[in-house]
Amino acid sequence: MQKLNISPLSKPFDIVINNIASDKSISHRCAMFSLFSDKPSTIKNYLRGEDTMDSLRIAQKLGAIIEDDGTIIKITPPLTLTEPDDILDCGNAGTGMRLYAGLLSGIEGSFVLTGDKYLRSRPMKRVANPLRDIGAKIDGREDGNKAPLHIRGGKLKSFKYHSPIDSAQVKSALILAGIQSDEISYYKEDLLSRDHTERMLNGMGASIITNKDGWIEINPLKEKLKPLNITVPTDPSSAFFFAVAAAITPNSKVTLKNVTLNPTRIEAYKVLEQMGAKITYNKTNDVYEPIGDIIVEHAKLNGVTVDKNIAWLIDELPALSIAMSIANGKSIVKNAKELRVKESDRITAVVESLKLCGVKYTEQEDGYEIMGNSTLQKAIINSHGDHRIAMSFAVAGLLCGMEIQDSQCIETSFPNFNEILDTLK
Ligand code: S3P
Repeated sequence: MQKLNISPLSKPFDIVINNIASDKSISHRCAMFSLFSDKPSTIKNYLRGEDTMDSLRIAQKLGAIIEDDGTIIKITPPLTLTEPDDILDCGNAGTGMRLYAGLLSGIEGSFVLTGDKYLRSRPMKRVANPLRDIGAKIDGREDGNKAPLHIRGGKLKSFKYHSPIDSAQVKSALILAGIQSDEISYYKEDLLSRDHTERMLNGMGASIITNKDGWIEINPLKEKLKPLNITVPTDPSSAFFFAVAAAITPNSKVTLKNVTLNPTRIEAYKVLEQMGAKITYNKTNDVYEPIGDIIVEHAKLNGVTVDKNIAWLIDELPALSIAMSIANGKSIVKNAKELRVKESDRITAVVESLKLCGVKYTEQEDGYEIMGNSTLQKAIINSHGDHRIAMSFAVAGLLCGMEIQDSQCIETSFPNFNEILDTLK
């Protein structure tokens, strides 16, 4: 089992980081959406993490030709997707499995989606049920709730679906199904979740319109889409580990280059700002999404309540818990039950790990309260196989030292995390 040893920093840092991992959500979508074109897509800065390389391999098994010169990945789609002669392995990626479930539901053929032991324990009914309702045949353990999932795709009906959860994975699965049906479909969520799918597909020529009343109108594709030609921006969720590192390290500052500034992705930075950190955003570009640099400077942090816009910062809550631990006063996280079904049960993983570091907390079904004013203590942390738990507590280790066990999972989203962490020394 791989482990990561972090030593405390002995001095402040002021650093510009331009090699943080590329956006995971956008990279998955590049691999999948390129299949809706009839021309090759060119992707620069595709995330070379395990999750997104799995999505690329699946595109290949469905008939795409992948050419990779080490910088640019060219994806040439097949004329029609082929039924693969093997299972499709999504590794650790919920995004891979749920979005491919929607995409494959509209394709004639038999497909088996599987993943690692963590992914195989995550709920899939949230996509399987609405996809079954429109005609996909989906089976799996626990009546289609757990992978391996067997999908027999084919002709799909249109739909009107108000999702009980604010989830970009569910929304994207249904959009990918809807564009393959013959009539207009409608989808609604209570809080707009990350909208990369809508932005990217519209950029490729699809018509997905978010109406004022929140209903998303999904128009069937009339023809093949234009190919993608994209440089994937930096992942704000990966960059956030270094934002927290700067915010908690006295006299430190970090400049995070070329990050997507999509409002559905940078809410955690707004919370860190509300806690007292000094943060500036410099927009430099706009390709499918606003892109720019984020500069984060240390300041004395205060406790905060996080109870709204949860889908906009769900992935950053573990890293925020480290800032909350040393902040002055109590912090509250609630309405975040979704944390329990991420790569690990992130409520349990966060509070159990904080406890080992000497932090006082109370746990609720949908969140936690962190008492704050803690002096973090070095501990041995079990990642629970969850990359974001591993990296959050590695950042805490910059203050007090830390041993992260089972740190291999970091490879799923941020292969050079450790290398960048070393440059802070
Ligand atoms: C993602 C959506 C979110 C997020 C995940 C990536 C995506 O999941 O937590 O890391 O790329 O669509 P949910 O849709 O389940 O909230």
